[in-house]
Amino acid sequence: MKVAIIGTGYVGLPTGVGLAELGHEVICIDRELAKIEKLQAGKVTLYEEGLEDLLRKNFQAGQIKFTTDLSEGVKDAQVVVLAVGTPPHPVTHEADMRYVYEAATELVSCLQNNEYTVIANKSTVPVGTGDMVQNLIAKNNQHINFDVVSLPEFLREGYAVHDFFHPNRIVIGADTERAKQVICDLYKPLLQHNPQCTLLCVNRRSSETIKYASNSFLAAKIQFINEMADFCECVGADINEVAQGMGLDARIGKSFLQPGPGFGGSCFPKDTMALDFMARQNNIDLSLVRATIEGNRKRINSMATRVLDAVAYDVTVPCIGVLGLAFKNGTDDCRVSPAMQILQKILQQNSKCILRVFDPEAIENARMLLQAYPQYNTRVTFCNNAIDVCMGADVLTVLTEWPEFSNLDLQHAAKIMRHLYIVDCRNMLSAEQAIKLGFSYRGIGI
Ligand code: UGA
Repeated sequence: MKVAIIGTGYVGLPTGVGLAELGHEVICIDRELAKIEKLQAGKVTLYEEGLEDLLRKNFQAGQIKFTTDLSEGVKDAQVVVLAVGTPPHPVTHEADMRYVYEAATELVSCLQNNEYTVIANKSTVPVGTGDMVQNLIAKNNQHINFDVVSLPEFLREGYAVHDFFHPNRIVIGADTERAKQVICDLYKPLLQHNPQCTLLCVNRRSSETIKYASNSFLAAKIQFINEMADFCECVGADINEVAQGMGLDARIGKSFLQPGPGFGGSCFPKDTMALDFMARQNNIDLSLVRATIEGNRKRINSMATRVLDAVAYDVTVPCIGVLGLAFKNGTDDCRVSPAMQILQKILQQNSKCILRVFDPEAIENARMLLQAYPQYNTRVTFCNNAIDVCMGADVLTVLTEWPEFSNLDLQHAAKIMRHLYIVDCRNMLSAEQAIKLGFSYRGIGI
């Protein structure tokens, strides 16, 4: 099938490459020329394990192309996938629909006198957006033969390639049988290799809601385990054991019970807030979602305080060693990263404090984000490796769950740190070994 993907971000690019690998003829469209030129040179514009190899393979085989020209891209496409950003409005927190709206408006002129086209929306969009796009196009041009479907994406960043090829469900929100059939055909090669994957066909609004409900439920699960971690710290229980015991109940499930410094990224914070906004517009009180948002905000503040509280009282210019900047492991994405937020709070709360930071993939993105705060630039040193952050540090803190951090040479760290304090917000380091080496160790929920 011929597929056009509008938007080459964390959803659009892995989807495009994945569909090309399934044998479809894919063309990815993005307005940013620099991105398209990089992709045409066989280089990825974001870090995802395995993505670059797959991109090169399919690019060389002619299965995937890249362009900035939307009309060229969507010409003859049987499916046009919308994968543009829907960032939160800075004040209301509702999803900013500008890019979806612009793409839909452009499609009006590009799809003139087309054969039948399915416009599949993969961006996370407010419930009712499918109707809005359908009406917008139909109202402006009656000669377009099309349907709009909701095709929510459940890929995790950092595992996008794996998740694309091993989905547990594909949800299609289609209000016509014809559109549903086109999307079923699109995923046919994938379903043949994944008999465990459920293809769920629902109405368009249900599909749009499934995406928000899924992300908000997972965010609430994390908030729950983080609150339980606080409880465990007070009553002498161990959150790791508690999570293990809970997770053995199949009704609860063992995933998303890893306590940490709060959830982040470009999805959970944005989607919980957007869902809350939609609920308030409909006079519905989603109190659990609201508590999740508020609890996560407080958690990020309390983690910054926890790190600063570990600084010895006689230190006038504290040096904090920070392991991890990305919002989670496996990605270079620092957007709404708990690590970045905690780092900023530390710098705000203690005007003398300096930071030594390291992340295996996210240094460049973190550097760009920090450039927006020139007052902090001189107080942050980007290090080349994990052990380097320990040099002269008064406190070492782990903020992102990169597995390699668990191999940190604590013996070496103990020799080069000024004071031996660890605040491990991801429970990555060995508490036992740290204590043996003379560290004062504080983990989460233990
Ligand atoms: C999330 C969902 O997991 C995907 O299914 C969805 O497609 C995606 O949002 C999206 O809407 O596009 P993602 O944002 O990539 O994926 O990240 P997650 O792996 O879900 O992690 C989100 C945050 O929760 C991270 O900050 C992570 O460190 C934190 N987390 C996750 C925990 O603190 N504990 C856990 O047990 C799991």
